[in-house]
Amino acid sequence: MEVKSTKELHSELAMHSVRFAKDEQGRRKGQDVLFKWPEIEKKLGEHKHIYVVDARLGSNNHTHRLWYDVIPPHTEEGQEWRTLGHRHTVEAIIYFLKGHGHSIIDGERYDWGPGDLLSVPMFSWHRHINDGDEPVLRIASTTGPLSLALGQAVYEDERYPEFWIYAQEGEDARKTLIPGGGGKIDNAKIAGSRTAEMYAEQVAFAMHEEQLRRKSKVLVKQKDLVFEPTAMGNLAYVVDPRIGCHSKALGVVMAEIPPGKRSGAHRHLYDEIDLIVSGKGKVIVEDKEFDFDTLDVLSIPVFQWHQYFNTGSEPLRILGINTRLAMDNLGLSLTHQGEKADYV
Ligand SMILES: [Fe+2]
Ligand SMILES: [Fe+2]
Repeated sequence: MEVKSTKELHSELAMHSVRFAKDEQGRRKGQDVLFKWPEIEKKLGEHKHIYVVDARLGSNNHTHRLWYDVIPPHTEEGQEWRTLGHRHTVEAIIYFLKGHGHSIIDGERYDWGPGDLLSVPMFSWHRHINDGDEPVLRIASTTGPLSLALGQAVYEDERYPEFWIYAQEGEDARKTLIPGGGGKIDNAKIAGSRTAEMYAEQVAFAMHEEQLRRKSKVLVKQKDLVFEPTAMGNLAYVVDPRIGCHSKALGVVMAEIPPGKRSGAHRHLYDEIDLIVSGKGKVIVEDKEFDFDTLDVLSIPVFQWHQYFNTGSEPLRILGINTRLAMDNLGLSLTHQGEKADYV
């Protein structure tokens, strides 16, 4: 084996950082954009849980992933979940396409049907139950890759207590939405200095965070979406802190384009995955075109111009799931608007 000198090794490490952005542009250009429903459906017949956009399967997406799954009639996701379900330190949304059922999230019951969306508060126990005679078809998207890269991904599952980190420590550890437990909000308070105040705020952070998670909006019903004109076309924000969701990484919008019309064009420095909820059309991504249909999935490369066209006779609805909020919080977001939609 070739042994590198200290100088060679450390020069290479420095150049890795210098080269990264240029290399990443190439990876973005080469990434898969379109995932067709018929192929996903075939795989779902063999296994009820199919990852679609996922860096572990070659997607160039560093922050979130998307999968499809099916819950058979009168069963529960995970089959053996009966009490706690699971919880995780990743943000998650679930969008229901077919079937009816309910979820138990942090002890509360939420009933859902097609077109409804759940935004699961971080580290809350949750279970999903199909109450009907039809299979439930749904997609889920999480910030798993982001939390894993940060070394802060905890998944505790009722079925696998041998992998629990905190839940085995008792009732308090199972009730809290803070991994490791909340503790007392005024434990660090001492009087007399601004620095002591600042430190006490730091200690209280997680407890405030837990309160905000518990106040966050969980269920968004399809009928409550409010579409309004924007430069990109008719949009409804579905998951966003400005409409009552305590989300810091994952955001969701629904876009609607009438037959024969086109959206605006834009590009942005965050990952986006789109689910085609209804209708058909095409998307231009930089210099390439992709034709899509209902239930197809698109993975939009970071900072590539994209614009959507409704080529069918029905309204086109696209659920856009992005990690804009994570990038906002890191100070890395940038959105450029190009041509405006032709129908607003
Ligand atoms: Fe989950
Ligand atoms: Fe976009």
